[in-house]
Formats: sequence, structure tokens, C-alpha cells
Amino acid sequence: MNLLAEIECYQAQVGVIGLGYVGLPLAVVAAQAGYQVVGIDVSARAVEAVNAGRSHIGDVRDEEVAALVRAGRLRATEDYAVLRDCDVIIICVPTPLDRNRQPDISYILAAGRGIAAHMRPGQLISLESTTYPGTTEEDLLPVLETSGLRVGQDFFLCFSPERVDPGSKKWNTRNAQGGRRADAGLPGSGGGLLQPHRRTGGAGLFPQRRRNDQDL
Ligand SMILES: NC(=O)c1ccc[n+]([C@@H]2O[C@H](COP(=O)([O-])OP(=O)(O)OC[C@H]3O[C@@H](n4cnc5c(N)ncnc54)[C@H](O)[C@@H]3O)[C@@H](O)[C@H]2O)c1
Repeated sequence: MNLLAEIECYQAQVGVIGLGYVGLPLAVVAAQAGYQVVGIDVSARAVEAVNAGRSHIGDVRDEEVAALVRAGRLRATEDYAVLRDCDVIIICVPTPLDRNRQPDISYILAAGRGIAAHMRPGQLISLESTTYPGTTEEDLLPVLETSGLRVGQDFFLCFSPERVDPGSKKWNTRNAQGGRRADAGLPGSGGGLLQPHRRTGGAGLFPQRRRNDQDL
């Protein structure tokens, strides 16, 4: 089965890197939608909490995490090696503003190095962290290609900016996504990822919008 079919049939395994305000709700929504999800985080506390069925994020209830962990649909680890088994990898690490009020992309690059060490052909990697235009292509892609794999030939890469508004009664990970995800019906994982494939015929790299029209 190819990647698109795996996503459409909920057969794809999803890896979410960074289980914070963005990553944990996303992991939960993807698991509730039917995907097998593993979260990767450098924080042992975050990993232990998820595996114990607890949520450390206000927008996610303990019972939701516990039910998914019990059902074997969601687990967490500090070990990037699990990414080898993932078909879709979503990066949700922090990008705090630096002293020049620019996003610090060092966490993205660290995640990229972790992915590169365990990549295999056929995977889709989606950058979800907020960052400046060009990051996917100019900064993350070269790190991923240290794996020896080539975008468009061996793996897919896209940028899917997060739109979540933590604490909002109206908007959440399921309904707050841009048109791409909402159109496809599945927030966070499959839905958002299907559209770029269709548009490009699987060309592999889905460039961010131009510098002058991307909002941070
Ligand atoms: N929180 C929001 O309201 C919001 C809204 C839109 C966009 N965003 C963006 O989404 C991204 C994630 O934000 P957040 O609020 O979820 O951050 P967060 O600080 O809540 O969570 C980030 C998680 O990533 C983990 N992490 C850090 N480095 C890692 C690494 N190398 N490998 C694996 N895990 C790592 C941290 O331990 C933490 O658990 C940021 O770019 C942020 O700007 C956030």
C-alpha cells in the first residue's frame, strides 16, 4: 500500500515530535481518528505522563489520553528510533522568539537531526512549528538529507502551520485548522497531509508561501 492509501485508510503510523500545547492535542486527535500514534519528547516527565494516561495540557482531558493509551492507540517515548516505524512524522517542537524577535529554530534542527538518524524511504515529514518562511526548504531539508535520502524521490516534506488557540472554548485542534485540513475532514494528521499530495501528484516538497505573504 502506498503512503496516500495508508493515510486514507487510517493505516498510517503517525509520529508526533514534541508533546506540548500543539503536539499532545494533535496526537490525541489523530489517535481518536483511528491512527496508531507515538509521541516523541525529550521531556521524561511528558513521556511518563502520557504513558500513565495523564494529560499535562489543559485542553486535553486525562480520560482522553488514558482511553487511547489503554486501547494501544497512543504511546510516548524519548527514543527517536521509533520513527523508523512511522509513515508520517509531524514536528511540533517549540520556536521561542530570540533576542531579535526571530523564532529560534534550534529545536526544529535538533528534531531534524533526530529524524535523519532514523529515516527510511516512503515517509512524509510535516513541520508544524511556527517559524519564518524558508525554514522548511532552506534549514530543515538539508538536515533531513544528511540521511542520504532525497526529497521527492525518497520522502515527502511539507509545512503545515499550527492554528490552535489553547484555552479557547470555540477553536481547538479539531476545528481550528486552515482550509487544507478542514476540507479533508481529518485535522492534524491524515486530512492535512492528503491535500499536498493531490495537488502536486506527490512531487515531494511543498514550499512555504513566499516571504511576504506568510504570517507567523
Ligand atoms: N501553544 C500555542 O498556542 C501555539 C499556537 C500556534 C503555534 N504554536 C507553535 O507550535 C510549536 C509548538 O508550541 P507548543 O506551544 O506546543 O510548545 P510547548 O513548549 O508546549 O511544547 C513543546 C514540546 O516539545 C518538546 N521538545 C523540545 N525539543 C524537542 C526535541 N528536540 N525533540 C522532541 N521534543 C522536544 C518539549 O519538551 C515540549 O514538551 C511552536 O513553534 C509554537 O510557536 C503554538
